[in-house]
Amino acid sequence: MLEIKNLQVKLEEEDKQILKGVDLTVEAGKVHAIMGPNGSGKSTLSYVLSGRDGYEVTDGTATLAGEDILDMEPEERAAAGLFLAFQYPVEIPGVGNMTFMRTAVNSQRKARGQEEMSSTDFLKLVREKAKELKIDADMLKRPVNVGFSGGEKKRNEILQMAMLEPKMCILDETDSGLDVDAMRLVADGVNALRDEGRGFLVITHYQRLLDHIQPDVVHIMSNGRIIKTGGPELALEVEKNGYEHLKEEVA
Ligand SMILES: Nc1ncnc2c1ncn2[C@@H]1O[C@H](COP(=O)(O)OP(=O)(O)OP(=O)(O)O)[C@@H](O)[C@H]1O
Ligand SMILES: [Mg+2]
Repeated sequence: MLEIKNLQVKLEEEDKQILKGVDLTVEAGKVHAIMGPNGSGKSTLSYVLSGRDGYEVTDGTATLAGEDILDMEPEERAAAGLFLAFQYPVEIPGVGNMTFMRTAVNSQRKARGQEEMSSTDFLKLVREKAKELKIDADMLKRPVNVGFSGGEKKRNEILQMAMLEPKMCILDETDSGLDVDAMRLVADGVNALRDEGRGFLVITHYQRLLDHIQPDVVHIMSNGRIIKTGGPELALEVEKNGYEHLKEEVA
């Protein structure tokens, strides 16, 4: 589904190499997790895949279902089926959440040559999905993420994901401030959307999140590279021994 080969990325403004050759393949139907110390490049990887400005790819490739995504505009990546949830979601004052989501869904449908959804149909669908995911539909009336609590932002993220039905979901999870219920909600959301045709990449510091999600594969990123890949037991090992131990082991 998502195939990243030897991805090397530097900052546009400075001569600073952040990703130093990332190799990663997420198969359809699988959940992969990335853990790693602060500043190892996890968020940078998600930013580069989303097409955010400020980064320059100096080498390597990234494809989604065989299509090169690095050359695409951010909205083309979304239309191709890539969904990203960021560590720090943006607030958009003045734009209603419902309008925002409908615009996102419709621009994606348009790009895929499907008919746009009417506001009535959209409302019906969004209410249905919100109910399934036990999300309070009142949140839809508020401006995007403005004044949302950390947990509400998470709910919103899961709802967006459910509405867009992406092929590949990348979630960069905050490392602080999420209570047990919010974490549970992210996990339940991912589990509810787990599907043979869909891949997940979950970036997290929490072993606890992975208790609920049960990843198929766990990667450890350090200093701009994946230094180790294993099963769920790798996350437990990190929890017990920390990253230093691992770094020494692979050095
Ligand atoms: N725009 C930028 N300007 C300067 N430095 C940057 C920029 N973007 C990333 N970096 C640097 O790149 C490195 C990787 O950052 P990144 O946010 O990807 O780490 P991370 O693995 O997500 O960390 P965390 O676990 O704290 O979320 C850090 O040293 C960071 O300071
Ligand atoms: Mg980060």
